[in-house]
Amino acid sequence: MQEKILILDFGSQYTQLIARRIRELNVYCEIYPFNHFPEPDPSVKGVILSGSPYSVRDSNAPSPDLVSIKGRIPLLGVCYGAQLLVHSGGGNVMPSAAREYGRANLFYINNEDLLFTDVTPGTQVWMSHGDTITGMPEGFEITGSTNDVKAGAFKINGESTWGIQFHPEVYHTTEGTTILKNFVAKICGCSMNWTPASFVTSTVAELRNKLGNDKVILGLSGGVDSSVAAFLLHRAIGKNLTCIFIDNGLLRKNEFETVVDSYKGLGLNVVAVRAGDRFLDELEGVSDPEKKRKIIGRVFIEVFDEEAHKVRDVKWLAQGTIYPDVIESVSVNGPSATIKSHHNVGGLPEKMHLKVIEPLRLLFKDEVRRAGEALGLPGYILKRHPFPGPGLAIRLLGSITREKLEMLKEADNIFIEGLRKNSLYDSVWQAGVILLPVQSVGVMGDERTYEYAVVLRAVVSTDGMTADWAKLPYDFLGSVSNDIINKVKGINRVVFDVSSKPPSTIEWE
Ligand code: XMP
Repeated sequence: MQEKILILDFGSQYTQLIARRIRELNVYCEIYPFNHFPEPDPSVKGVILSGSPYSVRDSNAPSPDLVSIKGRIPLLGVCYGAQLLVHSGGGNVMPSAAREYGRANLFYINNEDLLFTDVTPGTQVWMSHGDTITGMPEGFEITGSTNDVKAGAFKINGESTWGIQFHPEVYHTTEGTTILKNFVAKICGCSMNWTPASFVTSTVAELRNKLGNDKVILGLSGGVDSSVAAFLLHRAIGKNLTCIFIDNGLLRKNEFETVVDSYKGLGLNVVAVRAGDRFLDELEGVSDPEKKRKIIGRVFIEVFDEEAHKVRDVKWLAQGTIYPDVIESVSVNGPSATIKSHHNVGGLPEKMHLKVIEPLRLLFKDEVRRAGEALGLPGYILKRHPFPGPGLAIRLLGSITREKLEMLKEADNIFIEGLRKNSLYDSVWQAGVILLPVQSVGVMGDERTYEYAVVLRAVVSTDGMTADWAKLPYDFLGSVSNDIINKVKGINRVVFDVSSKPPSTIEWE
């Protein structure tokens, strides 16, 4: 039985961060919408109530019935969660006189309280709320205060319920990890043995159990998520897994061959489908980015469907969906733990009448990488840069021709190989070349040229949501520029993109 902590989400921007911190303590946890959580069973060791953009005094404030939890299993309310406990217990929560936002110090701490074991009096905490607790219900005892906030932390006497009006999960709460550790270890009694390696072992056992002798197909993209999903299933069911890897003609130079060879070398059962011409015939001359995406999505589904039908008796479609795709902070107005549709495989399962299996649906991105390491996957698979599903089609601005695609592949290859050779590849989150629909004048030897210009794009990021342009060395950029202009016929100018996201995006279309 997998021990876990439940986190009930009231819509705070920090809810996912609470989950990450708990998992960093090697304790497994899951996030549920506040109005849509399961009846706790004995595997649930504790519950955390998240913060919220709402005030408990709002007429439509989220206010779930906690009767199955409160007083029965350890409970920690964070910010809104703490105010909710006070409000529903008959205490007072009022708008704060001054907005309680930013750094503060807990000058008073009750170190006898389990939640504050080893926490230093005066420790810095991070506040972020417009309301504050002004009156405690009977039986609530204050265990921590700042200069302005008397009820910085409290516990309910006679039950395992705590509340804190600051955010332990954010970096600025310097001893936040100790507080969360006290909660999960000392209060909830979690054994703290959940690791990516234990995830692999238990998931492989579950997959075997669930799939038995059934056949499964999976669409490989070459990316980290689908690769780790494939190897996890491979370990569980071996040859009953068939992976389909489609060459859409828009992959990087040599990518298809290299990836297929390395997967086969690692024992995976891969059907490699060369469908470049089918995609390119339909894309020839198309310049609108949304049209490009739609065509690629449609042809992908057609090709995948045809290939899948060649595998007999398939029952399951496996996908590399990960946790951030599954949970989004809930709309606090409704039970909508919406699932984002996948960029390119959207619509696939419904059309194919297969049952869907998503072995990574509870992992964050870095946990997927660590699970991959635990499976023994090599760095060249796990450290690969993200690459968009529509591939080079959205890096070839303007109308697509085979000739321009070849130029782009060559230039992109020089840039990426250059990053590798100069040990810069791993310090960049994502990189690539964009071919502009612009020709510029140049001179080569005695002749004037009128050829295409390309952009080098390289960014640093942690999740692709925000990104900064990578400060690559001038000498390196100079030598990549020389190589591209000398070796790729049709390109006579190279520029470097120095825009950050936001307000720009990583891709150009
Ligand atoms: P942007 O350009 O929005 O990109 O800053 C963020 C991340 O998403 C990738 N991206 C895509 N991936 N299909 C995909 O599968 C797409 O249409 C697409 N557009 C952008 C992009 O490469 C970056 O990693």
